[in-house]
Amino acid sequence: MTKFGSVLIQLATVDSTNNYAANLIQQGSCQDGSVIMADYQTMGRGQRGNSWQSVSGENLMFSIAFKSRLSIDQQIRISWYSAIIWQQCLLRFGIDAQIKWPNDLYVRGRKIGGILIEQQLNGTTLDWSILGCGINVNETPDLVQATSIYQETGQRFKPLTVLTEYLDLLNGQQNLLFGDFFKLKRSFEEGMEWRNQLLQFEKKQGLSFEGIIRGVNEQGQLQVEVNGTMQSYGNQEIRFLLPRT
Ligand code: BTN
Repeated sequence: MTKFGSVLIQLATVDSTNNYAANLIQQGSCQDGSVIMADYQTMGRGQRGNSWQSVSGENLMFSIAFKSRLSIDQQIRISWYSAIIWQQCLLRFGIDAQIKWPNDLYVRGRKIGGILIEQQLNGTTLDWSILGCGINVNETPDLVQATSIYQETGQRFKPLTVLTEYLDLLNGQQNLLFGDFFKLKRSFEEGMEWRNQLLQFEKKQGLSFEGIIRGVNEQGQLQVEVNGTMQSYGNQEIRFLLPRT
C-alpha cells in the first residue's frame, strides 16, 4: 500500500507541482507517495487545458505522485476517491462541500477546489499517478463563482494544516479506493451536487437542453436523464449551469 505523504517536498515557487512530480518520476528519483507542495505556481494547470492561478502563500497547491497499481480501465477510481476524500476533509473544517462532476469541489454553487490527475502508463497498467489538487484556503476570491475555506468559515488555516488532514483521510480509507467498485461509485454519487435536480446543460456545440443528473456510469461519464432517456457524457462534451445560493 502507498503511504500518501511518505515524502514532503515544500517549494516556494515552481511552474506546476504536477510537472515537478512528473520530472521526479522521469528521473527515477520519486518515492511512492511523495507530496510536492508549493506556495506559488507560475504555470499552474487545471482541467480542460485551463490555467490554475492562485495568490502566493494563501492557498493549498500540491501533487501526490504514487504507484497506482490499477489497470487503465480502473483509473476512474482515483478520480472518485480523491474527490470523496476532499468532501470529507472539508467537512473537518466545517464545510459541507459537494462534488461537481467530474471532480470539482463546490460550496453553495461556488468552486472551492479542483483536481487534476495525470497518469503515466506501463503497457495497460497505470505505472504512476499524479494527483494534483488546488484548494482555496485563505484567499477572498474576487470571482462570484469561487470561494475559500476562509470565506466559508471566517477562519484562517495554514495550507499545510489542510494538507495534513487530507493525507490522513487519504491514507485511512484505501480499502474504499481499492475495494468494492460499486461501493466507491455509490459513495461518489452520494456526494454529487445537483443530483436528481432539473438543470440546464450546454453541449460543446453550444446546444442547450434540460436534464436531470442521475449519477455516473462505470467509465465515469455523467448520466443525464433527458425526456425519459438516459444519456452519457464525457468530460469535454458538456457543461452545466449552476444554481447559486
Ligand atoms: C481544475 O479544477 O481545473 C483542477 C485544478 C488543479 C490545480 C492543481 S494546483 C496543484 C497542481 N499543479 C497544477 O499545475 N495543477 C494542480
